[in-house]
Amino acid sequence: MSDLKAAITGVHGYAPDYILTNAELETMVDTTDEWITTRTGIKERHILKGEGKGTSDMAVEAVNGLLKKTNTKPEEVDLLICATVTPDMQFPATANIISDKVGIKNAFSFDMNAACSTFIYALVTASKYVESGEYKKVIVVGADKMSSITDYTDRATCVIFGDAAAAVMLEPTTENVGIIDHKFYTDGSGRVHLHQKAGGSVKPASHETVDAREHYIYQEGQPVFKFAVTNMADVAVEIMKRNNLTSDDINWLVPHQANLRIIDATARRMGLDKNKVMINIQRYGNTTNGTIPMCLYEWEDQLKKGDNVVLAAFGGGFTWGAIYLKWAYDGSKTNS
Ligand code: UT7
Repeated sequence: MSDLKAAITGVHGYAPDYILTNAELETMVDTTDEWITTRTGIKERHILKGEGKGTSDMAVEAVNGLLKKTNTKPEEVDLLICATVTPDMQFPATANIISDKVGIKNAFSFDMNAACSTFIYALVTASKYVESGEYKKVIVVGADKMSSITDYTDRATCVIFGDAAAAVMLEPTTENVGIIDHKFYTDGSGRVHLHQKAGGSVKPASHETVDAREHYIYQEGQPVFKFAVTNMADVAVEIMKRNNLTSDDINWLVPHQANLRIIDATARRMGLDKNKVMINIQRYGNTTNGTIPMCLYEWEDQLKKGDNVVLAAFGGGFTWGAIYLKWAYDGSKTNS
């Protein structure tokens, strides 16, 4: 087996300018800032505005920033994976569009979709290419324009989601840093609780599906919450046990940002103080595949080489999992 590990060597994030506050949502649907804050922890979310703008436009901002920070030329990139549930179009892959827009010419690229768990699934997929020794520079970008599938007449879902993108660079290392372990799960029977009813091969788009508002997110909040709160905490504790990590050993938990109550419950089960948990849900809401890399981006200046970091996610499918990695560098890479 190769002794190469895949280490994150840079991270960059992007959120669009427009901020949709709880106060503005109060004017759109029957809700209150108090309800949204106490039930979810969210205060505002960023929304991508503009005709013809899609997920790739945010991903391009994140990837261009990443290339600059890591002094990488686009032609040096070997592989780009885009984690998204809101591709620019059904095909081609948004990863292909991003690669074209940033000038990545010597790579292959593809999308992955496992709902909110895609970013962590994609990170491990990418790490296997790096560990093979054949791929030296691999980009994973998590990007979602959730506003494109959010029904702004449905108060149960429209207060939750936002738009963002963030990208990481993975490179091989022989040092004791990088991705160490992961544990992932899927339970497809959970699909009934969280899905998009139309637009796929089972129910292609028609006037009827549009009239019935079936191209938006359908979520039964409570069952999803119940599964998320149990499974995200269970798998985070499992990854600790598998690697003989105590709560003292862990420097950071980077949880998917779906609901502050789910994040708090996971941190409690892991025995972690809140100051070890990356939380930015109050400013972004749930950006699906943007959440975890966006946290890494915002906390980059506090991360140190050798830090023990646990990433944990839960999403539609159901899908869930956790990664244990050792951070590979000190502080922020300057955007020179
Ligand atoms: O990232 C992918 C995975 N997704 C998740 O992890 C999401 C998991 N689920 C959740 O985070 C929560 O279930 C929600 C935030 C979606 C909802 O919170 P909840 O505490 O589970 O609320 P609920 O759905 O049980 O609704 C409670 C009440 C209902 O009213 P009644 O029936 O008790 O009169 C809802 O109609 O709150 C009402 N409600 C609202 N009220 C004000 C639902 N949405 C709103 C709203 N404003 N925006």
